[in-house]
Amino acid sequence: MAEIRTIIGDCLSVLDTLPESAFDLIYLDPPFYTQKEHTLTTRDGSATFAFRDLWASHEEYARFLHERLSKLHRTLTYTGSLFFHCDSNAAHIVRLILDQVFGAAMFRSEIVWTYRRWSNANKGLLPAHQTILFYSKSADFKFNTLLTNYSASTNIDQITQRRVRDSRNKAVYARNEQGHVLSSGAKKGVPLSDVWDIPYLNPKAKERVGYPTQKPILLLEQIINLCTEAGDWVLDPFCGSGTTLIASKLLDRNAIGIDIAPEAITLTNSRLRDPVKTVSALLEQGRETYERKETDVFTYLKGLDYHIVQRNQGMDAILKQDIDGKPVFIRIQRPGEKLHEAAMALSDTSRTKGDAHLVLIVTEDNELPFGLEQPVGVTLVRSTALTIKDALCYALRSG
Ligand SMILES: C[S@@+](CC[C@H](N)C(=O)[O-])C[C@H]1O[C@@H](n2cnc3c(N)ncnc32)[C@H](O)[C@@H]1O
Repeated sequence: MAEIRTIIGDCLSVLDTLPESAFDLIYLDPPFYTQKEHTLTTRDGSATFAFRDLWASHEEYARFLHERLSKLHRTLTYTGSLFFHCDSNAAHIVRLILDQVFGAAMFRSEIVWTYRRWSNANKGLLPAHQTILFYSKSADFKFNTLLTNYSASTNIDQITQRRVRDSRNKAVYARNEQGHVLSSGAKKGVPLSDVWDIPYLNPKAKERVGYPTQKPILLLEQIINLCTEAGDWVLDPFCGSGTTLIASKLLDRNAIGIDIAPEAITLTNSRLRDPVKTVSALLEQGRETYERKETDVFTYLKGLDYHIVQRNQGMDAILKQDIDGKPVFIRIQRPGEKLHEAAMALSDTSRTKGDAHLVLIVTEDNELPFGLEQPVGVTLVRSTALTIKDALCYALRSG
């Protein structure tokens, strides 16, 4: 069983008490130089957590990091790696300090963690990524190649057909003596890139514990899987709500977490007793499910101005313009779905959202012949295909 320990204190002094060359992986998510006091209250209002990220200058911040990173470097094994989580506030400063402490040659990757966001309080581009700088202690670092699915745009020939270099060193498809193209063998997938599309924890996620800037367990699992094996040691010197420790426990790695705030350590210990991980529908069902929905909505709503609604079982789109001061919610009947079930799903989802116009696009004639009793409060609109069928029936009858 994994051994997990938490320590209260400034990591600067705690690091002196930890042995040299002991950790296979260090992940740190320190204050980002946001020049803010971060505060958040739990959903039930029972606790408020806070940490300060206010600095006199870039120099002061750089000194703070340099002192701690030097000590962290000492605790890494020869094959170990460090992942430094930051954002555009200080990524440029952090990169320079890491180059000094680890050596520029030990830089491995700048990982872009990207996620979807929907609004921007400031003028300018919507910020939708953070940066994780990956350095190793030596060139002989532990690394597990993780594979991801082929994308929709991957050329099928590149997956299925073996490639070799010809006499001019050009990549060509390998052929046997009869000139037939040879198979590439097992279709393993694409090596994980340095852009990671992992959803941010939404405000209602069960995994959320109310700690400011809490990171998703999925993100930490990916880092741990990349550079460690079961039984290895992981260190998080700014552990906050303990996400790294939870991910380590779930993956059977040993871990130590340090935080200067006693309430962060109390929270980490309680999370460790009963780890909760949110399953991302987006990752489970794949991006394609979302794209399929986009295609469906586009097909049926072409010509209207709408926003697509993801992550909602009851509705598929909302019109950009309110009608009579009320929003317009739209659902497209699913293949094989009974009409009354579709109508119920739409009216259920709208119940908590105030007064709205509800529109159901009927795509199948599996119930209620047109013109008979309709579900209350839901306007039925027949799809173009059904409308054409109706017109043809009428023509047939009257012809
Ligand atoms: C961005 S938060 C970490 C969030 C964490 N990754 C999570 O998922 O919950 C930064 C943490 O660093 C802690 N911290 C700040 N200065 C510290 C120091 N000198 N030593 C240890 N912890 C410190 C803060 O109390 C805060 O919990």
